[in-house]
Amino acid sequence: MAAYPVTEHLYDVVVVGAGGSGLRATLGMGMAGLKTACITKVFPTRSHTVAAQGGISAALGNMGKDDWRWHFYDSVKGSDWLGDQDAIEYMVREAIPAVIELEHYGVPFSRTEDGKIYQRPFGGHTTEYGEGPMAKRACAAADRTGHAIIHTLYQQSLRHNAEFFVEYFALDLIMDEEGACVGVMAWNLEDGTIHRFRAHLVVLATGGYGRAFFSTTQAHTCTGDGNAMALRAGVPLQDPEFFQFHPTGVYGAGVLITEGARGEGGYVTNGEGERFMERYAPHAKDLASRDVVSRAMTIEIREGRGCGPLKDHIMLHLEHLDPKVLHERLPGISETAKIFAGVEVTREPIPVLPTAHYAMGGIPTNYRGEALNPTESDPERTVPGLMAIGEAACVSVHGANRLGTNSLLDLVVFGRSAAHRAAEIVTAGAKHKPLSNGAGDNAVARLDKVRNAKGKLKAGEIRLAMQRTMQADCAIFRGPTLADGVAKIAEITALMNDLALTDRSMIWNTDLLEALELDNLLAQSAVTINAALARTESRGAHAREDFPDRDDVHWLKHSVAWLDANGKVRLGYRPVHLNTMSNEVESIPPKARVY
Ligand code: FUM
Repeated sequence: MAAYPVTEHLYDVVVVGAGGSGLRATLGMGMAGLKTACITKVFPTRSHTVAAQGGISAALGNMGKDDWRWHFYDSVKGSDWLGDQDAIEYMVREAIPAVIELEHYGVPFSRTEDGKIYQRPFGGHTTEYGEGPMAKRACAAADRTGHAIIHTLYQQSLRHNAEFFVEYFALDLIMDEEGACVGVMAWNLEDGTIHRFRAHLVVLATGGYGRAFFSTTQAHTCTGDGNAMALRAGVPLQDPEFFQFHPTGVYGAGVLITEGARGEGGYVTNGEGERFMERYAPHAKDLASRDVVSRAMTIEIREGRGCGPLKDHIMLHLEHLDPKVLHERLPGISETAKIFAGVEVTREPIPVLPTAHYAMGGIPTNYRGEALNPTESDPERTVPGLMAIGEAACVSVHGANRLGTNSLLDLVVFGRSAAHRAAEIVTAGAKHKPLSNGAGDNAVARLDKVRNAKGKLKAGEIRLAMQRTMQADCAIFRGPTLADGVAKIAEITALMNDLALTDRSMIWNTDLLEALELDNLLAQSAVTINAALARTESRGAHAREDFPDRDDVHWLKHSVAWLDANGKVRLGYRPVHLNTMSNEVESIPPKARVY
């Protein structure tokens, strides 16, 4: 192996990823006086949070009566009872101060006539424990809420002396003999150097892995690098089989059209011009929970009621809305529809199709962000020195299906909570434990192996095979081909032994970067599809055609998936927390989920 000189860094905390959760944690840790580094493969304000559109939920009640307990009820029901109710209580209560704090940091929210934060309805958010009208709970900055939040958090982080390592690609965690995380190895894309970051705490805030699928609303950078690093370090992913499909990706391009469009009064129709959601969700209709709308759209298409010459998509109508609403509240998607579908939204409907959008699963954590590596006797066992937040984590507040706008909320609430916990457990400037010989060498050896791959297949070819398999066998409906899918993902993973790289340089070698990202995606595809095959029930986003009913007797439990060194997936389970955190809200026992 070639020699790779290593540059050393010492920090109290290293945050990997600079999306909403990474930045909120970095900011909080900086404010707590901890020497904090944030490593990110893209410039912070280009992280995928920038693409979040419709809003961040909080029961502020600015535009109608609301209550955090109703938000709690909706999130538990939305999760199809797989969400941990104590963590959900924490999230929805903290939503209110967290959003007010964002406002004070300078997030330019849209405003009501009387100057309050503007709030719009979103799927699955109701009032009166599902009995009242839809809630107006999504705090919005037009349809560019993520953009507004991420710019503000980046500026605030700079103000609190966080140090950013931009265009650094994290390779692997450094674990010590006792199983604690003591740092992370990274590759500086710009000059090709290798870096060893030692820290008392490493926080994985690396986002989701939508790029495992063929059609996704997620950016090309969404390869779940932290999840794969955790898997290689022996830390499992929880509930990876639950992957959300957003109902309205632009047909063909997959680009997101916010659910906020339906929140503002938009609706979907099939090829017969019918507002079919009335049949599937008589009360909430177009604002039913995402899994429900995505399945309904898919059924319409399958049963021959799709739109267009191939009857293969659905239409989203906004043309009846006041052009002022489109201009003020939905300017971003008006532009998106024009660019990606050639549609003028004031006159024509947008062709749309459900598209892979969000991983409900991720690295298991408690509500303080501490990563868990559960055992049967200790389902809450923490991994010392390791945290995970945001889409990389599974707290679990989304369970089997996330409600729209609970994602931006998850980012800021748990980014903030992780910072509070870090301030409790890390002493600023404390001496670092000595490193074992060769700490981090495995990460460099992996990079070197891929860099020198001399097989016949390009990373792009292997990636396409993986994406097509995940889309065909592990998407909205999962059925008889799931077992084939498991075998195919194993075969496709083996193709990495025949990988070909042509560029062997270290400086901005995107060929190498994409191959390493692909390796990460394959690890996550394997645990996702294996956990999906094992779960013989339908719940939330996991719809098995061969097991159409929810089965609480056998499956009201979290899946936990480890990837062993031989590439085999090992599954275990841990209990769902059906208890609340306080006695100010009652836990919601499982019942039928209808909208
Ligand atoms: O539709 C949207 O604006 C997406 C929001 C979300 O995923 O939370």
